[in-house]
Amino acid sequence: MLLGCASSAIFCPKNSVKLQAQTSPNTVRCIMEGDESKQNFGFLSKKPYDPPSWALHLNPLPSHVYSLAHTPTPIHRWNLPNLPKDVEVWIKRDDLSGMQLSGNKVRKLEFLMADAVAQGADCIITIGGIQSNHCRATAVAARYLNLDCHLILRTSQAIVDKDPGLVGNLLVERLVGANVELVSKEEYSRVGSVALTELLKERLINEGRRPYVIPVGGSNSLGTWAYIEAVREIEDQLHIGRGKMNFDDIVVACGSGGTTAGLSLGSMLSTLKAKIHSFAVCDTPSYFYDNVQSHLDGLDAGVNSRDIVNIQDAKGLGYAISTSEELILIKQIAAATGIILDPVYSGKAVIRMLKDIAENPGKWEGRKILFIHTGGLLGLYDKAEQMVQTMGNWRQMAIGESVPRTDGIGKMF
Ligand SMILES: Cc1ncc(COP(=O)(O)O)c(C=O)c1O
Repeated sequence: MLLGCASSAIFCPKNSVKLQAQTSPNTVRCIMEGDESKQNFGFLSKKPYDPPSWALHLNPLPSHVYSLAHTPTPIHRWNLPNLPKDVEVWIKRDDLSGMQLSGNKVRKLEFLMADAVAQGADCIITIGGIQSNHCRATAVAARYLNLDCHLILRTSQAIVDKDPGLVGNLLVERLVGANVELVSKEEYSRVGSVALTELLKERLINEGRRPYVIPVGGSNSLGTWAYIEAVREIEDQLHIGRGKMNFDDIVVACGSGGTTAGLSLGSMLSTLKAKIHSFAVCDTPSYFYDNVQSHLDGLDAGVNSRDIVNIQDAKGLGYAISTSEELILIKQIAAATGIILDPVYSGKAVIRMLKDIAENPGKWEGRKILFIHTGGLLGLYDKAEQMVQTMGNWRQMAIGESVPRTDGIGKMF
């Protein structure tokens, strides 16, 4: 493990905190040794945060961010199968915001990790479902910043005391050395995510550590800045790329509310003014109106969540439970457009959006919709067995006995 500011360490949070005290906020730079100190390529560096002009009245304003995401993420036209001719769908590829750090969570972590380091944390605690994309992204970001990571993962009672395996997000988390603590769904709902993280925090403090807790999904008022900033990115992309083009609607999946809160507030405050449709893949729309409200209130936004976002139910059979119809649709969309949706979030949101377009054609007629693909590809591995039946497209290659050998590049045997 890289400790302190070893020459091989890309990044040294402890020292960058020390440096903050000595210099003005505008000159904060990560201390790196040798040649590394002379070059700052941007990625993984801490930089002062300059909020969009239309968001300056929000309070508190973040002072710094870490550069973790590959942004701006592309926006392109998305010819979804069976769309009515008068509806245009575009897609913003936040699934391409990184590799191990892919998806919407990396945008939140840019703010949350800067706060953790500013507070002098030496480890991160967070919590989520067994295939949480947020936990995976946090584990990777923490390791990049030389912080230890402790994950509390929710799984079923029957396997809570067994090795959780290496499927999907778990493989990445365990590769980067996150400490995994399993809890059953029953324990999770009895004790709650806040008490569980507090319990672990206390234990780590007693062991002499300085933990920083990130809530479920990275959703809190600070995390809300992620998609306020993403709205500025969309504004910039619209202005640079297409002159006067704008979107009428933005569609996104909702799992812990932070992405929805940031998008809705940003869209309302900026020149975007697109209508936000958020599809809840767990809990209920009324739960999320309140949850989004709490993130908005934490920024003194002075707006009512019900006025700035339309939240609809997209839970289906339940959180992270997929029907064969849903998986078949994900397969069809992938085969038709090359875009791979995840089964837990973006898949359910798109399926629900298409249903709404089919059932209420008047509502969507002539609209330009921007769908935010929030990532989650690794979660699809958890559904591989369930998806086998949707595949096909394979057979043993027929090679006649008489085909002669011709030398090519590379000798496999
Ligand atoms: C892939 C993916 N999409 C969407 C979401 C929902 O975002 P939020 O938690 O901010 O509502 C999450 C996490 O919950 C996610 O992992």
